Amino acid sequence: MTESFSFPQPAFPVSRPRRLRRTDWARRMVAEHRLSCDDLIWPIFIHSRKDNAPIPSMPGVERLSIEAAVSAAKEAEDLGIPAIALFPATDPELKTAEGKEALNADNLVCQAVRAVKQATTNLGVLCDVALDPYTDHGHDGLLWDGEILNDETVAVLVQQALVQARAGCDIIAPSDMMDGRIGAIRAALDKEGFQHVQIMAYAAKYASAFYGPFRDAVGSAVNLGRGDKRTYQMNPANGDEALREVALDIGEGADMVMVKPGMPYLDICWRVKQTFGLPTFAYQVSGEYAMLAGAAERGWLDRAKVAWESLLAFKRAGCDGVLTYFARDIARMMAEADSR
Ligand code: PBG
Repeated sequence: MTESFSFPQPAFPVSRPRRLRRTDWARRMVAEHRLSCDDLIWPIFIHSRKDNAPIPSMPGVERLSIEAAVSAAKEAEDLGIPAIALFPATDPELKTAEGKEALNADNLVCQAVRAVKQATTNLGVLCDVALDPYTDHGHDGLLWDGEILNDETVAVLVQQALVQARAGCDIIAPSDMMDGRIGAIRAALDKEGFQHVQIMAYAAKYASAFYGPFRDAVGSAVNLGRGDKRTYQMNPANGDEALREVALDIGEGADMVMVKPGMPYLDICWRVKQTFGLPTFAYQVSGEYAMLAGAAERGWLDRAKVAWESLLAFKRAGCDGVLTYFARDIARMMAEADSR
């Protein structure tokens, strides 16, 4: 008997991934990543004036008075944003070659830290350690004979970190890319009893053209002029080197590491998180914000949607959080969604 046997033919197509995308509930059920307020760190620009001033290259972002920064900080706390980062636009007449205003215990950033810490109970305050808001040449370090000096700069950065810690800063974030600064700052903090002060190292920070609007915001663009930071910030061509930089900073005592900029360097975020497993942050920098916010302003992109999508990319790349100028907008959107 020759009965022909045929295997059951699988229905075409064998797999239908769209099945799980048909409904909102199913899409939510299988979502691999989600954004929460806890992922956000909000950078805020401050100046010594009493009013707020828009930053043309960052639509929707302003330089705030200290008073307005305190209100912003309170709102951040209420929204559940864990931390803010304070960036000073120093008055031009206070800028010097050595950036000595950085060491003034009553400088803008210290005043703002004290005011914010007094007005909030559950909000972390992060401060950059670098000299560029304070130098008349716009560099992050001391300039001598066309060179950015390393060890001499580190000595000043250590003092700057101490000044900020004394003002009440919770997270010291060295963004200067000098060699050895994390270890030196950690030792000095511990020696002065600031064992609890955290260090988030700008460990892999690239010499990027995406910082342009930030330099407008803090007023360092005019100082830097045609200069660039390629002798200390990393070459955008390099990936392995980022892992060496991160390894060094962890070895020197960094609690958390950062990759900067963010979106053009998601591969670095991924590699850093996979390799070290430390809390890893990305900075969605001013130029990334400007691209999205500027296009949205022209009606070319949907501001909220591209902000959300860009931040999810960081989660997918393994980041534990993102410094983003969209932080308040996103947190407000989440609060609105929760109240519905
Ligand atoms: C200062 C500093 C910069 C940024 C953060 N800290 C600028 C720079 O290195 O020139 C850039 C942040 C942004 O573009 O949003 N060292």
